Amino acid sequence: MTSYERGVAVIGLGYIGLPTSAVLADHGLRVHGVDTDPRVVEALNRGTVHIVEPDLDEVVRRVVDAGRLTASADMVAADVYVVAVPTPFVDDHQPDLRHVEQAARAIAPLLRGDELVILESTCPPGSTARMSAWIAEERPDLRLPHEHPESPDVHIAHCPERVLPGHTLDELVSNDRVVGGLTPECGRRAASLYELFVEGEISLTDAASAEMAKLVENTFRDVNIAFANELAEVCDHLGLDVWQVIELANHHPRVQVLQPGPGVGGHCIAVDPWFIAAAAPEQARLIRQAREVNDARPQQVVDRVDGVAATGATVACLGLAFKPDVDDMRESPAVTVVQRLAESRPDLHLLAVEPYAEKLPAALAPYDNVVLDDLAEALDRSDVVLLLVHHAAFVDLDPALLEDKQVVDTRGIWRGSRTG
Ligand SMILES: NC(=O)c1ccc[n+]([C@@H]2O[C@H](COP(=O)([O-])OP(=O)(O)OC[C@H]3O[C@@H](n4cnc5c(N)ncnc54)[C@H](O)[C@@H]3O)[C@@H](O)[C@H]2O)c1
Repeated sequence: MTSYERGVAVIGLGYIGLPTSAVLADHGLRVHGVDTDPRVVEALNRGTVHIVEPDLDEVVRRVVDAGRLTASADMVAADVYVVAVPTPFVDDHQPDLRHVEQAARAIAPLLRGDELVILESTCPPGSTARMSAWIAEERPDLRLPHEHPESPDVHIAHCPERVLPGHTLDELVSNDRVVGGLTPECGRRAASLYELFVEGEISLTDAASAEMAKLVENTFRDVNIAFANELAEVCDHLGLDVWQVIELANHHPRVQVLQPGPGVGGHCIAVDPWFIAAAAPEQARLIRQAREVNDARPQQVVDRVDGVAATGATVACLGLAFKPDVDDMRESPAVTVVQRLAESRPDLHLLAVEPYAEKLPAALAPYDNVVLDDLAEALDRSDVVLLLVHHAAFVDLDPALLEDKQVVDTRGIWRGSRTG
């Protein structure tokens, strides 16, 4: 059994690592968060949080006050290391495992034997074994499980995260988990940690299958969204209302078509399918095509606005986040749409309304024709209303406020007011 005496180190205190640290500490473990961003470390040590996630501030304050959660920029010795660092892709859609490698090499000098290292970051198949190999390069004195599966000194496993931002604290506890060990014993040890707080089912498998299962989950979503987005294009071409067509089709007992939108964003669904495409480029044809369909959507929205906005028009752009009711703007198609409009139509005045942001994201800051505005003022001043994200504040909008305006509703929430 793995001891928890020296505590758990969680590396990467973002949308996944911070709530995970808080939940582990709330279940009685001593947790130390490690993050290369000093602002994140300072905020946590003050008992505050730097991300928007319901109830997280309260739990963090409680466990920090109780002395069970601390943070630093430097790695600390622990019995268990949970790695939750970013795993983006580089320009040609190849996975970028730089942060995982840095974390692995930082953990290595502190290992003295019998520790458990868990990779939670979403990764291409084989990454957990690579993490083991990076540690082995730093510590040739230790037997790592990718080379010594029969009697490793350190146990290594993958446990992908599948929480929904906005519901993270609940889902960390209630979701089923997949735990993939580099050996069966690695998997069992990792499962023991999750059994301390997970109420869902924990399925044990090998590390590569766990890595692939996580990618499949998000790729399934991406391919299905691409189908809805392609239907939107087809229906536009045929002069049909795609939302009505989907609603009718979904009355079939075995059909559940998703909703079209301005594209797919966030750190997961827009990224993870590329990890499969990179791992099996010849085989992953549909997966690549779906990514391309979804990536083409923002430009189709830009073209639609271009068609209805007169020279010098003011456009209220409602929503910048990658999905409703979160503050996360990473890979957001809404940001892409506004950025492309700012570039292609310098004559337009773009009023970006994002209830979860206090300032424009870095991608939009350089444009003189984009400003952050509040909803009432943007609606009052605009000629065109472009709905990009169906935040609750926009869904309940009084339809009278849209009268006399050109409306481009990419989410189909104001059907009847829509022009395009
Ligand atoms: N956000 C989600 O909803 C979600 C859901 C499932 C899986 N994931 C996966 O979880 C992983 C983490 O995602 P996230 O959304 O929490 O990312 P994030 O960007 O919110 O947070 C990552 C944190 O890691 C820190 N960091 C980077 N390199 C580091 C290093 N070498 N050492 C210490 N800290 C380092 C960054 O400063 C940042 O604070 C990714 O692989 C992501 O795909 C995310």
